[in-house]
Amino acid sequence: MVTFGGIFCVVILAVMLPCLDVALGQSTDPSEVDALGAIKRSLLDPMNNLENWNRGDPCTSNWTGVFCHIINDALHVTELQLFKRNLSGTLAPEVSLLSQLKTLDFMWNNLTGSIPKEIGNITTLKLILLNGNQLSGFLPDEIGNLQSLNRLQIDQNQILGPIPKSFANLRNVKHLHMNNNSLSGKIPSELWRIPLLLHLLVDNNNLSGPLPTELAKSPVLKILQADNNNFSGSSIPSTYSNIKTLLKLSLRNCNLQGAIPDLSAISELGYLILAGTN
Ligand SMILES: *[C@@H]1O[C@H](CO)[C@@H](O)[C@H](O)[C@H]1NC(C)=O
Ligand SMILES: *[C@@H]1O[C@H](CO)[C@@H](O)[C@H](O)[C@H]1NC(C)=O
Ligand SMILES: *[C@@H]1O[C@H](CO)[C@@H](O)[C@H](O)[C@H]1NC(C)=O
Ligand SMILES: *[C@@H]1O[C@H](CO)[C@@H](O)[C@H](O)[C@H]1NC(C)=O
Ligand SMILES: *[C@@H]1O[C@H](CO)[C@@H](O)[C@H](O)[C@H]1NC(C)=O
Ligand SMILES: *[C@@H]1O[C@H](CO)[C@@H](O)[C@H](O)[C@H]1NC(C)=O
Ligand SMILES: *[C@@H]1O[C@H](CO)[C@@H](O)[C@H](O)[C@H]1NC(C)=O
Repeated sequence: MVTFGGIFCVVILAVMLPCLDVALGQSTDPSEVDALGAIKRSLLDPMNNLENWNRGDPCTSNWTGVFCHIINDALHVTELQLFKRNLSGTLAPEVSLLSQLKTLDFMWNNLTGSIPKEIGNITTLKLILLNGNQLSGFLPDEIGNLQSLNRLQIDQNQILGPIPKSFANLRNVKHLHMNNNSLSGKIPSELWRIPLLLHLLVDNNNLSGPLPTELAKSPVLKILQADNNNFSGSSIPSTYSNIKTLLKLSLRNCNLQGAIPDLSAISELGYLILAGTN
């Protein structure tokens, strides 16, 4: 029987080989299939939005929110688009096995737990969109490894702890939207080194300490929002008059005091909001 089985298998393989050749290029990388399984198992999906996540191949059987590309002759998951799908539960660390992922989009769900540090292994990531959930825990330092990251949106969660200094290494990031969380500690002075940073939104957190004077060296910063924090009676750094690209500076209710620096050299500053300060 064993021998027969072996021969049978060889015959079948020989017949199918031409098809397999094509099929190999058309089925999703197996570790990514496993990763999607792990992601689904950690989520709660009361509306069964991911019901088709067990039918056929993720990339070729139209799994909800899964988008793929052929990279080096194999199908890889490049986007997870799962905004507003009534999902809760947690984001599994196995997400990092999606080694070609560019977009991780779980906006406007009810995810809990923390952002897994393994996310820092997905070097292809461009967009991390996790705003509007109930994520807590600390921001992983490892996010600072993401050299392709263009946008980090984690606003409107319950994330705690400091803004990692490692974010200064995000050489392609333009948008850091971290408002409406419970971040604490100082705004790291190193953030000025992010060469392309346009929007730094940290309002509605529990940040303290002085506003970093070094941010003035930020080369292209357009929007700085830090309202509703507690900068413990420090003043607005006079160096901020050097942020010539600034369009909006919003520092409402954040326990600043002292003189308002002369910002008249910032020709396009359209919004200067200092209400509720001293
Ligand atoms: C893929 O599934 C969506 C619903 O999940 C459906 O609207 C769409 O028509 C499907 N596309 C194909 C090619 O089957
Ligand atoms: C999410 O839940 C709301 C309220 O039950 C419902 O109206 C909406 O259609 C659901 N959306 C999805 C994508 O499941
Ligand atoms: C999240 O949970 C809250 C409270 O349980 C509920 O009101 C809200 O509709 C949920 N939102 C989504 C997108 O599931
Ligand atoms: C992924 O990240 C974790 C935690 O940051 C690390 O320990 C692990 O070595 C990484 N794995 C790979 C394959 O890079
Ligand atoms: C952020 O929090 C403030 C204060 O609680 C609130 O007024 C504001 O609407 C929130 N912003 C967003 C975008 O939810
Ligand atoms: C804000 O941070 C202070 C310490 O800096 C802490 O005592 C307080 O509980 C925090 N408040 C919130 C709402 O997280
Ligand atoms: C702001 O921080 C100071 C300590 O630095 C503290 O005494 C004060 O209570 C805080 N204010 C608010 C509104 O949290």
